[in-house]
Amino acid sequence: MRGLRGRPLTVVDGGSGVGAALVDELTHAGVAAELAVGRRPAAVLTRARGGVVLLGGLAGPDTAATDGSPTGAMLEVQRDAFNWARAVAGSGLTEDSDPGGRGSAVFVTVQDTGGDLGLGGARGDRAWLGGLAALATTAAAEWPSVAVKALDCERAGRSPAAVAAVVAAELLRGGDTPVVALRGDGTRLVPAVLPADEDAARPAGRAGPRTGSATASRPADAARTELEIGPETVIAVTGGARGVTAAGVVELARRHRPRFVLLGRTALADEPPGLAGARDERALVRELARVSGTAGGPARLRARAREILAVREVRATLAALAEIGAPVRYHCLDVRDERAVAAAFDEVRREWGPVHGLVHGAGALADRLIVDKTDDDFARVFDTKVGGLRVLLEELAGDPLRLLCLFTSVAGWFGNPGQSDYAMANATLDHVASAYQAAHPDCLVRSIAWGPWAGGMVGSLLAEAFTRRGIPPIPLPRGAQAFADELTGAPDGAPATAAGSTRVMIASCDASVIGGAGRGPAAGVLGELAVHAGAQPWLVDHSPAGTAVLPLAMALDWLARGALALSPAVASGVTLRDLRVLRKIALPELARGGHRFAVVAAPGRQPGETLLRVDGEGGVPHYSARFGPDRSPPTSGERWPTPAGLVDHPEESARHRDRIYGQGALFHGPRFHAITWLMGMSPDGAEGTVVGVDELAWGGDGWYFDVAALDGGMQLAGLWAWRALGGAIPVAVRECRIHRPGLLREPARGVVHARGIDGVHTHCDVAVLDGDGAPRIELLGVELVLRPDRMSRSR
Ligand SMILES: NC(=O)c1ccc[n+]([C@@H]2O[C@H](COP(=O)([O-])OP(=O)(O)OC[C@H]3O[C@@H](n4cnc5c(N)ncnc54)[C@H](OP(=O)(O)O)[C@@H]3O)[C@@H](O)[C@H]2O)c1
Repeated sequence: MRGLRGRPLTVVDGGSGVGAALVDELTHAGVAAELAVGRRPAAVLTRARGGVVLLGGLAGPDTAATDGSPTGAMLEVQRDAFNWARAVAGSGLTEDSDPGGRGSAVFVTVQDTGGDLGLGGARGDRAWLGGLAALATTAAAEWPSVAVKALDCERAGRSPAAVAAVVAAELLRGGDTPVVALRGDGTRLVPAVLPADEDAARPAGRAGPRTGSATASRPADAARTELEIGPETVIAVTGGARGVTAAGVVELARRHRPRFVLLGRTALADEPPGLAGARDERALVRELARVSGTAGGPARLRARAREILAVREVRATLAALAEIGAPVRYHCLDVRDERAVAAAFDEVRREWGPVHGLVHGAGALADRLIVDKTDDDFARVFDTKVGGLRVLLEELAGDPLRLLCLFTSVAGWFGNPGQSDYAMANATLDHVASAYQAAHPDCLVRSIAWGPWAGGMVGSLLAEAFTRRGIPPIPLPRGAQAFADELTGAPDGAPATAAGSTRVMIASCDASVIGGAGRGPAAGVLGELAVHAGAQPWLVDHSPAGTAVLPLAMALDWLARGALALSPAVASGVTLRDLRVLRKIALPELARGGHRFAVVAAPGRQPGETLLRVDGEGGVPHYSARFGPDRSPPTSGERWPTPAGLVDHPEESARHRDRIYGQGALFHGPRFHAITWLMGMSPDGAEGTVVGVDELAWGGDGWYFDVAALDGGMQLAGLWAWRALGGAIPVAVRECRIHRPGLLREPARGVVHARGIDGVHTHCDVAVLDGDGAPRIELLGVELVLRPDRMSRSR
């Protein structure tokens, strides 16, 4: 793993007893490490600045918890890990700079949830630790320059020295694989997502959930726990009166008409008269201001409007159920409140009898980067899901539960910038579901990791960002049907989507888009590429944090060459869609052994479409893009006028590269100085002159298009994002059109057109245009995500 040979690592024992032995192992291997002294992360991290290895997840359940329970102890380990992560971000270790030239910082979480990421459910006592890996994957997404790894290492009764040896071996020799499970018997597992109907052929050495898309075909003969739902079945649903869970409840009611107990915080108060005509938040704010004045300001009016809309939503769900004829009770409570939950279920049992099913859909968001999250944000998001489930399972322990369904998220498996608490909470629920299933084999347990829906907590900007990454939102009716199918099978008699599997993902895309399904049987290697400082010395000048990183433009060149291997028509141009950075390509061995990559092709979603991927060592997917079904050269209807309002800031706009590259926004060394003139920037975009591979003397003869020139265009986008947001890195491109393959003959025009900005994302279009005004390369829908380390510098 990169970063180990830099500044001393801080090993946090966290009550595991493994810390001292791990420090010994690492020191013996020449890696500087010291045991953290003291529990205050911020104080510790000012002294040791190499990063942290958190071992609290290996601690036994006997660790003293504030509430004295093993579950409480596991949850405290998670909160403690989050505090360390926040301190890492706050200490500046995640900054994209390395003044000492000693490599990346390191962030490692280690947990023992059975050595299989809790999938087997055998370690039910430890399932409540299950969010640690999600903290690490979110940290990796938020901190591009930090080397991150999450380990699930089964202790299996081994001595601290033996466990330390296994952990050290993975850190020293396990490469950059981000999530690894290590069983007590020596098996090493790397998680992957498999399509539902490929599950039978799951390869050895893979752990993972199954996916079913909202339109997936279903295995006909898979065994599953039968769930009969009828008019006497009592199903409690948290969050079931609003949002996407309500859509699922109504669909289940239509099919089986059980009795529903819906739980939510919205109190069913009457709204002031005269507002019925105002249907949305904006109209309500206007009407409220008219009826009751503007005292308290717009924030109060907006909050009041949201309360009114929430009440209307609950009433609409209750009315829909009444119309279907499904009996329903609504209890206004907070699922974290043990006493309120106990009182509600006492009433339910008195009037309706025992509870047979629980669907836990309650959830909350407070999206902020780890460094900015407050304790309150974390508590609200994490406890609503995890604390709520704990309260509910304790309350229903004596009821004959035949169904447990948890609404979780793909963020739990892959992390998501801004959602550390949410990802941790969902991953914990996934682990608890597996443990519950193992302990209750007769209960149908499903933890559904949903992709984005077109509704509920996913707003329009977030939905657009997911769509650009190839994951369009699930339409409400399709999601509701998929939920009901998952529990009781489709109405046509077909069994559930991912029969027999406790952890399921459902999204409007295939498994490879969500998280990389591995190469799969139909994938073919189109070409292999070696990267080495001997052949590509200029890559050293693309080192954002002291370690070289492959630029997106170069990965696009490889993918385009993959397309050329499939179709000779590509020689005169190509369109690739949904280019996605699945995992950045760091090149720590550039000057030593170098790195090897493969461009592979697998069948796409549509007939005639190919999914192209750049895979690293061990088949780890790094970039993907779609090619076809139309393989003809691209045409362009875009216009590329100079963006409006360009401002020629002397400190930014210059004919001298020293000034363009000397202001701190661009990290590029001289052999990446592709911008020769920065004409100016404005909120609408940026423009400048860029040069190419020949001018920068990169050499080489295998280029499909001028990568240096496109990198220059992307640098312009980076400069614009730096001014707009405070720095951002590209994560996806909706459409890449290479109109003119080959290298530039003369300097070209680089243009960036702004498309939108929210708190975390920016969207823009980028073009490199020839002297005749025709586009050479167009990247439409470039999505850049905010870099936390840059933000402070620009504001
Ligand atoms: N929407 C998506 O795209 C998406 C994607 C992946 C996963 N999910 C999951 O699906 C579930 C529902 O999401 P949604 O999009 O429908 O969100 P939503 O519209 O924000 O609804 C959240 C629901 O949870 C309830 N709730 C929140 N905190 C609660 C608490 N402390 N006690 C009781 N009830 C509480 C809310 O009711 P009150 O406000 O009345 O309390 C509401 O019914 C969540 O678990 C979410 O993580 C959603």
